[in-house]
Formats: sequence, C-alpha cells, structure tokens
Amino acid sequence: MKQVIIITGAGKGIGKAIALDFARATGTQAGFDPVLILVSRTLADLESVAAECRSYGAEADIFQANIADTLQIDLLVSSTLERYGTIDCLVNNAGVGRFKPLAELTEEDFDYTMSINLKGTFFLTQRVFAVMEEKRSGHIFFITSIAAETAFKSSSVYCMSKFGQKGLVEAIRLYAKTCNVRITNVMPGAVCTPMWGEVPDNMKSLMMMPEDISRPVVNAYFMPQRTSVEELVLRPVSGDIPD
Ligand SMILES: NC(=O)c1ccc[n+]([C@@H]2O[C@H](COP(=O)([O-])OP(=O)(O)OC[C@H]3O[C@@H](n4cnc5c(N)ncnc54)[C@H](OP(=O)(O)O)[C@@H]3O)[C@@H](O)[C@H]2O)c1
Repeated sequence: MKQVIIITGAGKGIGKAIALDFARATGTQAGFDPVLILVSRTLADLESVAAECRSYGAEADIFQANIADTLQIDLLVSSTLERYGTIDCLVNNAGVGRFKPLAELTEEDFDYTMSINLKGTFFLTQRVFAVMEEKRSGHIFFITSIAAETAFKSSSVYCMSKFGQKGLVEAIRLYAKTCNVRITNVMPGAVCTPMWGEVPDNMKSLMMMPEDISRPVVNAYFMPQRTSVEELVLRPVSGDIPD
C-alpha cells in the first residue's frame, strides 16, 4: 500500500533533501512505495524537486501553498485525503527566520515569523493529527532547531517561534502516545541552505549540509513501528556558530 508523506518547505534546503532521501528509499527499502506530497509557495522549486523524486521511482505530487493561510492548509489536507485516502507522515519543515539585533526587529518581522513557524505549523499539525488519531497510526516530524532550546542574540523572534514549536511537540506527544502516533523533534544546528543567503566558504566549513539532517529523519521513519525516535539533535562537529 502507498505511504502518503506530506513534506512542507520541500522546494529547497532541508525539506528538499528529506524529499529526495524518501524518494531514494523507494528503490532500496523493501515494501516502501511512497506518494510524496511536496509543499511550498514556489511552484518552480516544487516541479524541479518532484521531477528529481520521480527519477528515483517515487510518486511525487506538488501542492503550492502558503502554510500561514488556514484555508490553504484545509485545501492541502482535504485534497490529499480525496486523492490518496490517508496521510501516513507529515514533515513540518517549512519555516522562516529574520535574523537581526533585538532593536531592529519590526512588527512585520514578528508577524511574518509567527504566522508561518507557529500558526502554520500548529494548524497543519492539528488537521493531520486528527486523521492519524482516527486511524491510530502515523508519524509527525517537526524540524525545529537547536534555537528551540538555546538562545542566540540575533534570533530573538526566531527563538520565540522555535521554543514555541517545541511546546507544541511536547503537548502533541501527550495525545500521540495514546493513539500509536510517533512524534519526532529534529533540532539541527547550522545547516548550509538558502535560508542563510550567500554563505562565504569560511562559514560553510562550520556548517552541516541538508543531507546530514535528511538521512537521520528518513532512518527514524524506518525504525520499527514500536519505536519512536523522540528527538534528534544534530550539530556541526565544531559546535554552534558564534552569535
Ligand atoms: N538552515 C539552518 O541552519 C536550520 C537550522 C535549524 C533548523 N532549521 C529549520 O529547518 C527548516 C528548513 O530550513 P531551511 O534552512 O531548509 O530553509 P530554506 O532553505 O529557506 O527552505 C525553506 C523552505 O520552506 C518553504 N516555506 C517557507 N515559508 C513557507 C510557507 N509560508 N508556506 C509553505 N512553504 C514555506 C520555502 O519555500 P517558499 O519560500 O517557496 O515557500 C522553502 O522551500 C526551517 O523550519 C528552519 O527553521 C534550519
């Protein structure tokens, strides 16, 4: 039976790497036959990632949506259910950061960050969890950050949003334990992705690469159903980039 996997923010960076690693597992993991539902706001990114996923033999569908908009979340969930009948896995990866000193952060920076990292993640999780709770199986990943438990000076609003995501992870786990749903909180340190803009070579050497995060995520999914990998903390070997 097809496994229906929704990945938000699948057009770039960590989400793209997760989509590609799930796609590669189609040929290598016995019995794994996924439909990957790739979500982001930029259609061209999604089309290119979907084509690459298909080249590995995976079925890939694209859904252009802004997760900050609950109507678009509802459409994503309802059209996935209409088309594929269920949802087996949600990777809550889409997220944004505005990195500035405290005094420079604006109300727009605050609202934009919270609308995606908190509101979008909450309502998509709420809708998908209801499906998993009813069928008593499923796996939800949250790509939070080490900034979900460690503060950085230039990341006050981002840290608020990530600490908040960790609150949701811990609350939803209380429900998930009673209905056989696995919850994994993935907390990466610095990863070289478009989120950082142009990264100079000397900084790149202090960062992880997206595939360093996607591999353990996909491995956690393939753990026996009786086992939930509750947390993955991944840091560059030299530690966090100084703030
Ligand atoms: N890079 C790091 O160092 C790092 C470290 C720890 C945690 N993280 C977390 O990992 C996640 C992925 O980060 P990344 O570095 O891969 O970022 P990225 O390279 O900027 O990619 C983010 C992806 O999310 C999508 N996205 C953003 N806002 C969205 C929205 N409102 N609706 C739908 N899709 C949206 C983007 O596409 P569109 O803009 O086209 O929508 C893009 O595909 C984030 O939650 C981030 O906080 C990153």
